[in-house]
This record gives sequence, C-alpha cells and structure tokens, in this order.
Amino acid sequence: MRKLLNKLLIKFGLLITKAPTLLADKSLPTSDSLPVELTEKVKIVGATEAPQNELFDIFSADTNVHKWHHYFDIYSRHFERYRDRPIRMLEIGVFRGGSLRMWKDYFHPDSTIVGIDIDKSCSAHELADQNVFVRIGSQADPNFLSEVTGEFGPFDIILDDGSHKTHHQIISFGALFKSALKDGGCYMVEDVHTNYWIKHVDSPETFIDVSKQIVDMLHEPYFDRKETHFRHAHDEAVAEMEISYLSANLSGIYFHDSIVVFDKSSRVLPKSELR
Ligand SMILES: C[S@@+](CC[C@H](N)C(=O)[O-])C[C@H]1O[C@@H](n2cnc3c(N)ncnc32)[C@H](O)[C@@H]1O
Repeated sequence: MRKLLNKLLIKFGLLITKAPTLLADKSLPTSDSLPVELTEKVKIVGATEAPQNELFDIFSADTNVHKWHHYFDIYSRHFERYRDRPIRMLEIGVFRGGSLRMWKDYFHPDSTIVGIDIDKSCSAHELADQNVFVRIGSQADPNFLSEVTGEFGPFDIILDDGSHKTHHQIISFGALFKSALKDGGCYMVEDVHTNYWIKHVDSPETFIDVSKQIVDMLHEPYFDRKETHFRHAHDEAVAEMEISYLSANLSGIYFHDSIVVFDKSSRVLPKSELR
C-alpha cells in the first residue's frame, strides 16, 4: 500500500526520491588522451537472449539466488579451471542460500562450500551432510575471518558478495588474500558498481580505487629498472629482488563490468630473452 502511495506521489511530482547517485567526484573521467570517437555517447540496449551458459542453467533451476545475468560468463571464465577436482570455496554473503547450492552443483561434488553472513538466519542454509557450511559473523572482522579460515581454509576461491560497503571489501581482501587464499587461488569481488553509489561508499578510497593501485603493484618489479636487468645471461641481470607480498603473489588482475578478479600465484623474476 505504502509502495503504491509512493509511486503515485512520485508520478505527480509530490515526492522526490533519492535514487542511487553517481558520486559527485566520480563523474566519468574522459582522458584527454582518448579520441572523441571513443568517448562520444552511443546507445546500448537490453539483452534479448538469456546467457548460454551451464552455470546460468543451474542458477535458473534454483530460486533464492541473486545474481546479475552478465556475471555467468565471467564466473565460467575464471572458475571453469577449478571444476575437475574437489575445491574449497568461501562466499561472503549467503542471503537465502541459493548461491551456495548453485556452487555446490557447479563444482566437483566433493568440494567444500562455505558461506559467511552477518545475518543469523542464514545458518538455516547450511547443508553439512553435503559439505555446505555457514558461519555467522562480519566480513569486516579479521578475527572471525581467521577463525573461518582455520576451520575450513585455505580456499581455492573466495567470492565477496557481502555488504558491498567499500571499507568491508577492502578489509576482507586485506585479511584474506595472504592467509586464506591458496597459491593458484582466485579472489573475486562482485557488484563493484556499488563503488559508484554513495550509500555504499564509506571509505576514503573505494575498492576500485585500491584495485587500480594494485595494477601498479603488479608492475612493481619494473619500477626503477630497465630491460637488461631482466635479460637472460646479461651482465646487468639481477638474480633476485624484494617486492611486496601482494606483487610477488599476484599473477593477474582482471576488471569486468562490476567484477574485479585477482589470480594468486607465486611469481618468479620476469625474464626476457633476445635470441
Ligand atoms: C547480495 S546478498 C548475498 C547474495 C548471495 N550470495 C546470492 O548470490 O544469492 C548480501 C548478503 O551479505 C550479508 N552481509 C551484509 N553485511 C555483511 C557483513 N558485514 N558481513 C558478512 N555478510 C554481510 C547480508 O546479510 C546479505 O545476506
């Protein structure tokens, strides 16, 4: 009834609603380096077909899952390689349990799927006999995260679909990447479009801001260096160097529409060779 009343008030201009607002200082940056053909406005329209994707079929067979359609191709692209063996997955954000069941169906049947949520009622979605577990606590509490890691980790995949608050996304990544994610693991943060909606931004830097800095960190080995420092058998080649843990354990970072993905893998010194 209240919704209907609000709709009528909006229709007749009597109620001003506060729609999610693009951050004032985050207006679309259009670099002067880009030609106008790349920055001029063009039209996009809604999809006419459902995603052709096995995971989307699993999603469609269950209810109580909340996912954006365009995520399914991204999940497949990054998660497919984990399907042929039992894995351990941590999902932040259980809600009605649908995604935990979806992951259980998608990955190897002996996999362990762990969901965490701040809402106590989510415990009802635990299916312990099927290795689907739920623990209650906040993604912003490093002690709780380390308890969950001690009980079930380290994980092959960590997916943050929790509060979507920027400081939560940053704290969870900081608390989990090193100790809770296996070498060869994948850390995915979804719904990062919320980083552009005021009500979710509660930190001086958004998760996207931090992720962009991590792109620079990925290239840390090259700071203050030149190519011959990495050249095979060259006099100037260095045998080792010290770089930050994150850089030394990150093989790739991927930006998709609303999703950022970090591939964890211990790195060796990059080597170039001139034959
Ligand atoms: C988008 S829903 C999760 C949807 C679920 N993964 C799915 O695909 O169906 C977000 C969940 O995050 C939980 N949440 C909110 N704040 C949290 C926090 N600080 N720590 C952990 N979970 C939180 C909410 O209770 C809610 O159930």
